[in-house]
Amino acid sequence: ASLALEGQIGVHGLSAGDFTSLEEAAESAHRKLWELRGSGALGFWSLPDDAAIRDPALELGEELARRFENVVVLGIGGSSLGAKAVISALGDRFGDLLPRSRRSGARVFFPDNSDPATFTALLERLDLGSTCFLVITKSGSTAETLSQLLVVRERLGSSKLIQQTVAITDPEEGPLRRIVREEGWRSLPIPPSVGGRFSVLTAAGLVPIAAAGVDARSLCKGAAEMRERCEAPSLRKNPAYLLGGIHRLFDRRGRNIHVLFPYADALRDVGDWFVQLWAESLGKSETVGPTPLRAVGATDQHSLLQLLAQGPQDKLVSFIGVEEPATDLEIPRAWTEHEAFAYLGGKTLGRLLDAERQGTAAALAEGGRPSVTIRLPRVDARSVGELLFLWEAATAFAGFLYGVDPFNQPGVEASKQLTQALLGRPGSEAHAKRLAARPSP
Ligand code: PA5
Repeated sequence: ASLALEGQIGVHGLSAGDFTSLEEAAESAHRKLWELRGSGALGFWSLPDDAAIRDPALELGEELARRFENVVVLGIGGSSLGAKAVISALGDRFGDLLPRSRRSGARVFFPDNSDPATFTALLERLDLGSTCFLVITKSGSTAETLSQLLVVRERLGSSKLIQQTVAITDPEEGPLRRIVREEGWRSLPIPPSVGGRFSVLTAAGLVPIAAAGVDARSLCKGAAEMRERCEAPSLRKNPAYLLGGIHRLFDRRGRNIHVLFPYADALRDVGDWFVQLWAESLGKSETVGPTPLRAVGATDQHSLLQLLAQGPQDKLVSFIGVEEPATDLEIPRAWTEHEAFAYLGGKTLGRLLDAERQGTAAALAEGGRPSVTIRLPRVDARSVGELLFLWEAATAFAGFLYGVDPFNQPGVEASKQLTQALLGRPGSEAHAKRLAARPSP
């Protein structure tokens, strides 16, 4: 069956009646979400129009865009992936190749990982004098981020560090906040009620996004519009509940590998953001927990698709189709005596890409493989804001359908503690002892 659902969402492989089995669980998940919201613990929900958070972040980001050639984000996970996804979706494509006068903002880099080869290469190639470092860490204690900061401090010297660094961290707690207070750094807060992977519309995401010259106000507007739609209590009318619900329904049928498959290069990094959001929020029980994957069309038709089309029946694909590409390119007519060229001439690359998506969805459906389709009118700030909020709300709702707390990440914390123990952080002695008792792999 092919079903057009609320707004931009459609699904192959479900009928309207299938949702009945989910209604009771959906009502209970809705109640839990609204209780959390009422208690102020669902911080991400109010972000799209929270001017007290948005405006200082945008002012700072815009100032950095004027003052600096480069902005380097020192942050990892939720403190990097959201801004990276938005900037690669909406920033100037290959803008780094343009001279400053033709760019709309600073060049923003996300070294993200603590891989020494990447970080060394980046620092050696940048003109550090015209570079701002944004240290983004909610806890203020993440080893990867703080190590990068220590390297930067040594390269810049401590007085330049204060002039060229901004901290984005918890408003009160954490080691980075203490340095900020002691040394008088510029800083903005990440509200304690907003989890790292839900923080793209806090200063953690908005400062780098605005520094890149991206229209962050429209991004927030789009998110606010989607939030309004995600407030409907009914499963069938709420796009986030539908998206979360569809995934849970298919999961119950053994489809627990969830693939996000946008047909737009611009959304490639949204895939990475989704993987973190879905995995860290929902993967915390030995009996349930979907595995997220990301793909990009049409590229991954020549890689992952074989497995999706004929491999085990354990996957659900969510396509994202873009109705109107930002730029289209006509395919010229030539060699028309050859069929392989003739039918392409006169079409556009955008049309080809969309036909690839439709063809792939139809081929999967013919093979008895379901899929969801989210249609975006175009990849602009509003639609991307809508898309991000849609997945955030769907994740929160799905967490309660899966019976897990979508807002913690105890597995990530354990690995952080053991890493610190290995490096001899005081206070980690008990963890170090535990590690010493294990045979090394
Ligand atoms: O979503 C999360 O909470 C995590 O992925 C964090 O964002 C990540 O571990 C980085 O943490 P922090 O921002 O405290 O440095």
